[in-house]
Amino acid sequence: MIIDWYPGHMKKARAQIVEVLPTIDLVLEVLDARLPASSANPLLEQLRGNKPCVKVLNKKDLADPTLTKSWVGFFEKQQNVKAIPLDAKDRRDVGLLPKLCRKLAPNRGNKGQKPLRIMVVGIPNVGKSTLINTLAGKKMARVGDRPAITTCPQQIDLRNGILLSDTPGLLWPVMDDQNGALRLAASGAIGDNAFDPTEISLATIDYLIEAYPALVLQGYKLSEMPETAMAALEEIGCRRGCLSKGGAVDLNRAAELFLRELRAGKLGRISLERPQRAPFASCNAQPDEANL
Ligand code: G4P
Repeated sequence: MIIDWYPGHMKKARAQIVEVLPTIDLVLEVLDARLPASSANPLLEQLRGNKPCVKVLNKKDLADPTLTKSWVGFFEKQQNVKAIPLDAKDRRDVGLLPKLCRKLAPNRGNKGQKPLRIMVVGIPNVGKSTLINTLAGKKMARVGDRPAITTCPQQIDLRNGILLSDTPGLLWPVMDDQNGALRLAASGAIGDNAFDPTEISLATIDYLIEAYPALVLQGYKLSEMPETAMAALEEIGCRRGCLSKGGAVDLNRAAELFLRELRAGKLGRISLERPQRAPFASCNAQPDEANL
């Protein structure tokens, strides 16, 4: 299957990052905890150089906690990098971020020091805006008397020594690797009209049957695992009432429903990538070779 979708804005993104990087002290890279390799854009790593970086493994509430822990270990082996799993909607979680950022830039953001300037970057839909809102909102809630101040059009003063870019840096998902593209599609990071839901569902179910069989059985109340992904999708369609007029399973509807449920976490906490091996059987590339 070919997913022919590439927005072609990389040049603009590159120019923006090159312009902004010298004016900030730390990059807050937002990744999807379910697919930290495929939701990264290697351009950032190329351009970032030695600039400190906090990798936010966002949507941790949807990801497999064991694998998320492995990813944190994986990222923290990199120089000048810290990683933290977060639910960007959770104020308590997000409240841990400033301290972590300060660890990477100890000469900024403390009393008597210049402010710590942070830019949030990531591909669409990973939760950048949600994170910025929670960070700004948290401060507003804590101080209570006045809202976070926009000092200039691009920055929010969190009034804890941290200046945050108010518009996130937008990177584009890398679609060179078909299996990475499959994972991005399964997660909902790329538009639904960019792929065939049935094919994405079949590839994902294939992976789930191997990696999370108990969740599949439990989620769809199956007594035994169907032998193929196609048989499983038909069974899912049957159980969820995705039938066409003649009574046959409407595969497209079943696939759309399956993807909706997967993305909403209804099947449980599922990760599509692990640091050591590629998730979809057909993919030979290691995530670290492919994207990081
Ligand atoms: P972006 O700026 O990077 O493009 O992402 P944005 O914050 O707009 O978030 C994209 C979607 O992901 C939103 O859902 C948002 O609520 C959801 N989201 C962000 N962070 C988390 C998280 O940690 N956990 C979970 N489960 N979801 C998260 P949406 O359905 O598109 O919008 P909404 O109806 O929730 O507002």
